[in-house]
Amino acid sequence: MNSQIKKRGYPDFQDHVAALEAANLVWRIDQPVNKDSELHALVRWQFRGGIPESERKAFVFTNVTDSRGRTYDMPVVVGALAASAEIYRIGMGVPLDEIGSTWIDAINHPIDPMVVTDAPCQEIVIKGKDLTGEGKGLDALPVPISTPGFDSAPYLTAANFITADPDTGVQNMGTYRGGLKASNRMAVRMATRSGGAGGYAHWLKYQERGMKMPCVAVLGSPPAIAYNGPQKLPLNVDELSVAGGLTGEPIRVVKCLTNDLLVPADSEIIIEGLVDIELLEAEAPFGESHGHIALEEYNMIFEVTAITHKKNAMFSSIISQVTPSESSVIKRVAYEPMFLSHLRDQLGIKGVRKVVLHEPLTNIRRVIFLVMEPETPKTQVWRALHGAASLRADCGKYVIAVNEDIDPTNTDSVFWSLAYRANPAEDVLILPNRDGGHGPRGGRKGLDSTMLVDATLKAEMPPLALPKREYMEHARDLWEKFGLPPLKPESPWHGYSLGDWSEEWDELAKEAVAGNYEANGRRTENMRISGIKPETLIRDARKNDD
Ligand SMILES: Cc1cc2nc3c(=O)[nH]c(=O)nc-3n(C[C@H](O)[C@H](O)[C@H](O)COP(=O)(O)O)c2cc1C
Repeated sequence: MNSQIKKRGYPDFQDHVAALEAANLVWRIDQPVNKDSELHALVRWQFRGGIPESERKAFVFTNVTDSRGRTYDMPVVVGALAASAEIYRIGMGVPLDEIGSTWIDAINHPIDPMVVTDAPCQEIVIKGKDLTGEGKGLDALPVPISTPGFDSAPYLTAANFITADPDTGVQNMGTYRGGLKASNRMAVRMATRSGGAGGYAHWLKYQERGMKMPCVAVLGSPPAIAYNGPQKLPLNVDELSVAGGLTGEPIRVVKCLTNDLLVPADSEIIIEGLVDIELLEAEAPFGESHGHIALEEYNMIFEVTAITHKKNAMFSSIISQVTPSESSVIKRVAYEPMFLSHLRDQLGIKGVRKVVLHEPLTNIRRVIFLVMEPETPKTQVWRALHGAASLRADCGKYVIAVNEDIDPTNTDSVFWSLAYRANPAEDVLILPNRDGGHGPRGGRKGLDSTMLVDATLKAEMPPLALPKREYMEHARDLWEKFGLPPLKPESPWHGYSLGDWSEEWDELAKEAVAGNYEANGRRTENMRISGIKPETLIRDARKNDD
């Protein structure tokens, strides 16, 4: 641990990037890369190029150029917060399986921030006329274009916007997109839908008061703080206190230079500003995390009043748009434990083993899987289905309960469960009047609905017809010994009992494998019977015998 971390008690963004580099989780690109046309498209291949999540890395671009032929000293970092769950875990400083409990603990035991004056984020101060003109203010920052060919501007994607409730002073922090308009102006989108942005609730209060809203965009904060931006916390809970709960230390905050907001002192870059409460400005097109292009719409105007940054600041950008993406990983890893805790701890449904938010293309909110323990009573399965669908207005359009042998991340496995374990007439419930949630603005209009599906086993079934585990494992050893092409086992890859199986049949199978099929034949010879229809089950014939 270096001395700065000791002083702070938690790593800042650059310590985090160094930790990723030490774990061989960084691609460092020193060749020139154009931020307007190449940079995000290049990182996108990591998510659309068949690279498994476990092999994804962060990208550090040290030689950033733009379409105007300019070069930037500030490196651009993409994927350092959540290109994979492993990267997120390193940022949280906990093992993967403790992410959920760490969040729940932090939310239940927040630690208030500590105001300091020695703020690395204010080493360089840009104000007044230095904010205006080409190469100045926002125009000096290497802000990439996320979806070249569709986006109308470079966008801040990793920015956490801080506002305060004018009545209580309690601050809110949320990750919102910020599109550049001029060197001293951007447009910000704070979602107005239910379950949308906390900053929007503050904006409405400022509108009532007739005062512009002070607002700050924080870039490259210590990761424990950054992870709070997309996290769903109740309104009136200060994300910086929950960040303190995550690190176990008060977060060092500093007062802004042009307003009273408190920002994380150890951030890379701070953009201070005022948000207009009367005029709105056209913003987007921009590639959104729901996987479609957000069409041009009116959003808030953020007038920059100051930019401050570290002397050697790094610029952090999140890759979002079509999922999987960094934006979906950062939410998935934090939301799944929230759902599990809600169902298990708040609603007391002990039979829920796991909650899986479906990620590829669907953006984690619309399709939710509940992995249930065996023999969970039907009433509990249905409480869980309803509970998951109603926790958040924008999550759970389709909620599907499955058994633990079904891998929700494997679509084939899910279809298998739907095909054999659910009867649509009995196990599906459709509920009307759901909010459309986070989705494309074009297409269907009006209210959406919810589909709940109980695709768990309702009765015992015969085993899955694959060789038993020990035979498949042995065969795999042989496969490798024979030098056949590398395998990527897909669940299910071995047979197992689904309840409808007997020790007697187990013995028959053992005899067969041992080469004694004739012994089995002698047994059935003794069981010959007449007067019944072919295809009568042995157990039914035995019942008739009784
Ligand atoms: C990369 C990224 C971009 C996001 N962009 C927006 C956005 O433009 N507007 C918005 O309201 N929410 C956006 N979100 C979702 C919010 O961050 C999320 O709803 C968060 O809980 C909002 O915090 P708040 O409820 O404290 O405002 C984004 C999330 C991520 C990870």
